[in-house]
Amino acid sequence: MKGIFGGEAVYKTIREHRRQRSPRRSAGAPGLNCLVLGGGGREYAIAWRLANCNSVATIDSLPGNAGLSLFTRVLDRKPDDVAWLDEHVLASFIDLAIVGPDDLIAAGIADALRRSEIAVVGPSKDASKIEWSKSFAKELMAEAGVPTARSESFADAASAKDGLGRWNAPVVVKADGLALGKGVTVARTPEEAVEALATPPWNSGRVLLEEFLEGEEVSLQALVDGETVVALPPARDHKRARDGDAGPNTGGMGAFSPTAVLPDDQAQTVAAEVIAPIAAALAKRGTPYRGVLYAGLMKTKVGWKVLEYNARFGDPEAEVTLPRIEGDFAKLLLALGEGRLAEYVAAEPIRFSRRAYVDVVLCAENYPGPPRTGMAVEGLDRLPESVFAFHGATKRGPAGNVIVNGGRVMHMVASGDNIAEARDRAYAGAERVTFEGKFYRSDIAQQEVAVA
Ligand code: AMP
Ligand code: GLY
Repeated sequence: MKGIFGGEAVYKTIREHRRQRSPRRSAGAPGLNCLVLGGGGREYAIAWRLANCNSVATIDSLPGNAGLSLFTRVLDRKPDDVAWLDEHVLASFIDLAIVGPDDLIAAGIADALRRSEIAVVGPSKDASKIEWSKSFAKELMAEAGVPTARSESFADAASAKDGLGRWNAPVVVKADGLALGKGVTVARTPEEAVEALATPPWNSGRVLLEEFLEGEEVSLQALVDGETVVALPPARDHKRARDGDAGPNTGGMGAFSPTAVLPDDQAQTVAAEVIAPIAAALAKRGTPYRGVLYAGLMKTKVGWKVLEYNARFGDPEAEVTLPRIEGDFAKLLLALGEGRLAEYVAAEPIRFSRRAYVDVVLCAENYPGPPRTGMAVEGLDRLPESVFAFHGATKRGPAGNVIVNGGRVMHMVASGDNIAEARDRAYAGAERVTFEGKFYRSDIAQQEVAVA
């Protein structure tokens, strides 16, 4: 790590400079200076929520996107340029940094930022192993007594193929490392499992075979500071690319919150079952967690089971949960980043709004395969009432217009008194915003409306 992040000397200088500053730390202006790392819909949601806080003075984003450039200062650098980040944190009097994407967290960016003694929301590289190694996550769940699907870990695809005989179909095949939500395949037959094991990402590196679980999925995110766990509003995500849960797994095609599968008032109780024991186990190992911990859950006939952990906010879950957190979100994150979350929530208990949110993701042609990019995005100036366009993969073209820059282009996020109302509005927005090759699922939150 030292090679990438530079020697200790630079951090010593930064710490000395910080100590010389006033306790308020910002450069004279009242309020917090925030830095959001990442440039997708999740980071847009984080920055948007921060921008709605009285305590916030400035927001920088890196690498940002076309939408973030409207209300944050987009920094023209690579987010993993740590030597430059050190200087930026110092020169711009950054108080609070939030690391959005999994790859930056796994690269140890949160560790690097913490050496400058600012408040950082994002776990260390060691603690985030819970996301970047599925076999480590399984080991920790066993140690902490957290219920999960039965599984077997293999050094490579060839040994997994040999082990397949011990598993009944359907069987789930998982790549061990980070795969942007695309590392899981549900094989309905042994032949499908063999086929998966011969294709990327499963054909290289460690692989897990896992019992197929039936039930309803929910995403539960929590703020975790050592052993303190504060649940956020539960949400549901739609992972498959096509209507009716057909097609390949994606990063997420849409989301909504709240959900009857895990009502808001049960979130903290379930977090105590599936997140708190993990937080305690990581603390016990000497790698305490400080950031957002996300549990992908299945509600089965025999209770909650964990499918996976993510070491960050979900995307698109952040887009529908952050708008539901009341109070000064920046102060809440500052308390987490400074390691005083327990004290903060004791004085200011977290509250969720009763409004419902739905996110319909507009995707570029061929996503989750290599997306077609470069097309102009139109209609952003004609959004219906209560609909926001949270930018995902966008950038500015030479003429200053918004163009497609990746797979999940735009999140149409709408609110309503209930899911049905929010859903209708999100779809009205999804029709209004256009670009060549656009596609989206037409059944986001449909099931929730049917049971309501
Ligand atoms: P993961 O990245 O582990 O959350 O997996 C992505 C998606 O694959 C999940 O959201 C589920 O829809 C599905 N999945 C993963 N593991 C299982 C399992 N053991 N049983 C059934 N579906 C699963
Ligand atoms: N929506 C799932 C994830 O963020 O991994």
